[in-house]
Amino acid sequence: MSSRLATSLCGIPLKTPVLAASGTYAYGVELKDLVDLSAVGGIVVKGLSREPMDGNPPPRVWETQAGMINSIGLQNIGVRAFVAEKLPQLRTAGTAGVTIFANVFGYAIEDYLEVVRVLEDAEGVAAYELNVSCPNTKHGGIFFSSDPALLAEVIGAVRKIARRPLIVKLSPNVARIEPLAKAAEESGADALSLVNTFVALAIDPKTRKSRLGAGFGGLSGPAIKPIALRMVYEAARSVKIPVVGLGGISNGLDAAEFLIAGASAVEVGTANFWDPSAPVRIARELDEFLQQEGIDHVSKIIGTLKL
Ligand SMILES: Cc1cc2nc3c(=O)[nH]c(=O)nc-3n(C[C@H](O)[C@H](O)[C@H](O)COP(=O)(O)O)c2cc1C
Repeated sequence: MSSRLATSLCGIPLKTPVLAASGTYAYGVELKDLVDLSAVGGIVVKGLSREPMDGNPPPRVWETQAGMINSIGLQNIGVRAFVAEKLPQLRTAGTAGVTIFANVFGYAIEDYLEVVRVLEDAEGVAAYELNVSCPNTKHGGIFFSSDPALLAEVIGAVRKIARRPLIVKLSPNVARIEPLAKAAEESGADALSLVNTFVALAIDPKTRKSRLGAGFGGLSGPAIKPIALRMVYEAARSVKIPVVGLGGISNGLDAAEFLIAGASAVEVGTANFWDPSAPVRIARELDEFLQQEGIDHVSKIIGTLKL
């Protein structure tokens, strides 16, 4: 990959600023025969919880006109199995050298702390991405991501025990993103990532039921890109820490738009379902765009929106 794209995020060197988004790239190792993982800027693994989780009842995915709605329900093998089984495989031939970000979630602050404690003892994780788009079951189901005080509480608690950088992944399901971005920065986040999926519903008009077993799901893919861009712009201009932008990125120009809106790096999610090597292709297309524009390094377009 060209030197135009080599960058860093929270002090972590990245070959390219194009990462694979959580929940769309499994634990990375599963893709090793399909994709040259050494060319991927980084992989954010599927969300990890303190215990294994089965997720929601099927159907769990519905394709929409320009995206998809999922209600996977954060199914995962649990943080201990990830450390014991997946991380060692990520260090073997074919996957060695790929930068791994561990996505962490929970339903109480203690859950986040337990997952991070287990990861702290493990080798091969560059940073944590905290998925705060979960209800706090100890506080009547208020979402961590929708209340600045609750958000600050969980970040502050994790910050105290985490030695690695902390990227806080914000939910777009809020009226204003700025107070949440600021609360995350003030309570110790090293970076933000946004957006997660938009709460959505698909209806089968014949049965008059939801298309998804769980009822509601989360909308992702090209359909959400314009809203995600607006929110990344708003978040980036309200904080000093770096912002990782995502939501509907499917080609190099999409990635460039997020960088121009103020993101320092991007993640690719839904596009991986039709092109597993999307993070590599998108980085190449971004590089071609920079070359055509006569820009010698990707950092030069970050936050250059003329508005
Ligand atoms: C099937 C699926 C599973 C996902 N699982 C997670 C997850 O475990 N943790 C998380 O933080 N985000 C998860 N996400 C959200 C994505 O990482 C991303 O934020 C969102 O899909 C928007 O990006 P995109 O439009 O490029 O897909 C998931 C998304 C999809 C489609």
